[in-house]
Amino acid sequence: MADRSADAARAELSSPACMMHEADDAYMGYLSRDELINFLTELLEAERAGARVTLETARAADNPPIAELMRAVQRDEAHWCGMLTRHLWALGVTPSDNVGAFYGKAMAIADLGERIAFLNRGQGWVVRKLREALPRVRADALHADFAEMLRSHETNIARATEVMTQITISPASTG
Ligand SMILES: [Fe+2]
Repeated sequence: MADRSADAARAELSSPACMMHEADDAYMGYLSRDELINFLTELLEAERAGARVTLETARAADNPPIAELMRAVQRDEAHWCGMLTRHLWALGVTPSDNVGAFYGKAMAIADLGERIAFLNRGQGWVVRKLREALPRVRADALHADFAEMLRSHETNIARATEVMTQITISPASTG
């Protein structure tokens, strides 16, 4: 099936037929509109927290591989914030401005290696949530975006693990 535009999705959601789709969706095990909005919001706040943590960690890092890793993850986190925001608008919802509690927890960790390990656990939480949600997402465009977000998070977890392992193996290179 072809991707639907945000306008088409919005029009469909406001049609009477949508109410029946909603009941069908719940029966079929798909996420309801409210569940989807809650999930998108939870992810948006988490990604915004991740984007801030990686931005500030990149600035603070005097180790070039860590700074580059943080900049790359920050670009991705910001990208997913945009994607999640678009889907919330398409559902007729004003996106949350909140920053997830993850931000404060991560920034309280002074040691950058420990903070990045914590960041990776946060990214792992996103992976688990997306894996659970994917079979329950019916809209093709959102399903595709979630699948891409999942792959990107898996890639970044592996990349962070590799960078941190190399730094641990050669401590002379740490900043
Ligand atoms: Fe993330």
